[in-house]
Amino acid sequence: MTEAELDRLYPEHLATLMRRADAALAATGFEALEIRAGTPPLRFLDDQDYPFKVNPHFKAWVPLEDHPGCVLLYTPGRTPTILFHQPEDYWYASPPLPEGGWTRQVELVPLRSQADADAYRRRLGRTAVIAPPESAAGTEAERLNPAALLTRLHYERAVKTPYEIACMRRATEIGVRGHLAAVEAFRAGACEFAIHHRYLEACGQREEEMPYNCIVAHNEHAATLHYQRLDRIAPRQRRSLLIDAGAQFRGYAADITRSHAAESSAYADLVDALDQAQRSLCGEVRAGRDFRDIHRLAHRAIGEVLREAGVLRISVDDAIERAVTTVFFPHGIGHLLGLQVHDVGGVLADADGHENERPPGHPYLRLTRRLEPGVVVTVEPGIYFIDSLLAAARRDQRGDAIDWERVDALRPYGGARIEDNVVTTSAAPVNLTRESFASAAA
Ligand code: GLY
Ligand code: MN
Ligand code: MN
Repeated sequence: MTEAELDRLYPEHLATLMRRADAALAATGFEALEIRAGTPPLRFLDDQDYPFKVNPHFKAWVPLEDHPGCVLLYTPGRTPTILFHQPEDYWYASPPLPEGGWTRQVELVPLRSQADADAYRRRLGRTAVIAPPESAAGTEAERLNPAALLTRLHYERAVKTPYEIACMRRATEIGVRGHLAAVEAFRAGACEFAIHHRYLEACGQREEEMPYNCIVAHNEHAATLHYQRLDRIAPRQRRSLLIDAGAQFRGYAADITRSHAAESSAYADLVDALDQAQRSLCGEVRAGRDFRDIHRLAHRAIGEVLREAGVLRISVDDAIERAVTTVFFPHGIGHLLGLQVHDVGGVLADADGHENERPPGHPYLRLTRRLEPGVVVTVEPGIYFIDSLLAAARRDQRGDAIDWERVDALRPYGGARIEDNVVTTSAAPVNLTRESFASAAA
């Protein structure tokens, strides 16, 4: 997908956002919309900023991810205006006016100071403001982030435009480059810290640009779901690597996990079996499917893998019934993906804010919606050997369901997760991740 092709898709994307905004404003009694990119917060007792994370509503409209102080103004029926914050400054580099096809679809106005924005704001009717609260001091509470308006936009955002899917494909291609470099570094004996930096370098992205903190976990560290430390020394015995790392393109995220065995082992067989199960779960991403059913299917598939690996001493049905599969798979099978790695709106049943319940006993499932064409999800089954959950199972009535010798043999590997990003269509699902790995190998 070239820049020119993205430019061709952008007008339809913008038109979709305008249509959604028109309907949401009409339904909630507002005449105009102001979306602020936000500004980075200051560290306590310091003159240094935290890394800037743009308001996701802002980057939905225009691909400006690193531009604090910018503002979007929109009145139904008019071209959106971007007040482009371009201060006179000799401490920090002021951003140049952006170029590219998308800039022809909006009115781009350089903004020297925030006070200049007020002249533009005064031309608007009753305006809803979507902004991080610290960037909107003085805005009346009823106009700032009105819940009913946000809910509508969040609900609709689950369905991606072709432009957004193209951006996510590009993000995936970048992430796949990183994963290929990371596994090479693992095979060469690198420590977590070095693998992490090889990943970033291959992606050509800074740590701050990642859509979430990379998880780079050797051995037992893989049992911590969002393991965040980076050892500077490689383990004496390298057994496994779990790497969950994404990338972004024009503000859209990829979220990719791969698990690697250092050599042939029961763990390597477990990863292969999980990979097969994961592929089959990806095939379930179909329009009309309730995502909660895919989560239930995942427990069945993981139960089968565990049984095959000799970890379960009871049937898969019993393991599900007695919550034994949740000892090894304690998170949701996936979530919405897009502007944010855990995109908002996953449990909404409709645009009015009703919610679909999570299945009892599964509090961490982030997506409970029925899938429809354009919805992009992750599919990320995992099997982990987590000391605290295993100890709890041993204490309660589930101890007899588990073969503890098998568990002890696998514990030093930490765990495994395989995660792809999958687009729901009106026919077969499109697996962005597998397609990217395949074309990187071709
Ligand atoms: N990387 C976080 C997640 O997979 O949800
Ligand atoms: Mn994920
Ligand atoms: Mn992930």
